Amino acid sequence: MNSAPSTSTGGAAAAPTRRDFLYVATATVGAIGAAATLIPLVDQMNPDASTLAAGGPVDLDLSKIQPGQQVVVRWRQRPIFVVNRTPQSLKSLEDPKLTAQLADPQSKERQQPPYADNWHRSVKPEFGVLVGICTHLGCIPKFEPQPSATQPVANWLGGYFCPCHGSTYDLAGRVFRGVPAPYNLPVPPYRFVNDTTVRIGENPENVNFDFSSIRQI
Ligand code: FES
Repeated sequence: MNSAPSTSTGGAAAAPTRRDFLYVATATVGAIGAAATLIPLVDQMNPDASTLAAGGPVDLDLSKIQPGQQVVVRWRQRPIFVVNRTPQSLKSLEDPKLTAQLADPQSKERQQPPYADNWHRSVKPEFGVLVGICTHLGCIPKFEPQPSATQPVANWLGGYFCPCHGSTYDLAGRVFRGVPAPYNLPVPPYRFVNDTTVRIGENPENVNFDFSSIRQI
């Protein structure tokens, strides 16, 4: 998975593929706010290794994620970003100044289950759940929630930045126009088993969503 970009021998360098780049970057976790808080991968909340290997669902206690913070869990060997979005960042998701810059602001491409076909691309607006794999060549985008005039790019509104080739996404995982990544970040199947526990890998009752129907993971 962590292979470097491939080159051919004795001919022109082969174009990099998604497989070459998958997971080149490191997942980051942090917080919206002056003092970023680093939170490790939440392996202790995950089921045992055999369940993970089998691709079983993963439960996460959301009460431990403060507003503005994100944690990363693994599901089917993929990083899953779970972010507790502040009221202010939620408001920004509907700001026309932002949506006018997005490639697919209405999430028309099948990159999410039907229950995340909405402006916040999630079940509950405050909690975003995204597959943290750039839809360009598969690096892991960085969590950059703070708006900034200069960082990581000029006039940054807050969201995710892929350091590999500069693709940018908002805090709902919607991709900006004019970047290499073609699609919004995927949303995995998930449901709330109670008010504070999310189960990643399982649809809500009576919903039959097949994750493999996602256009690009
Ligand atoms: S992998 Fe190329 S921009 Fe993310």
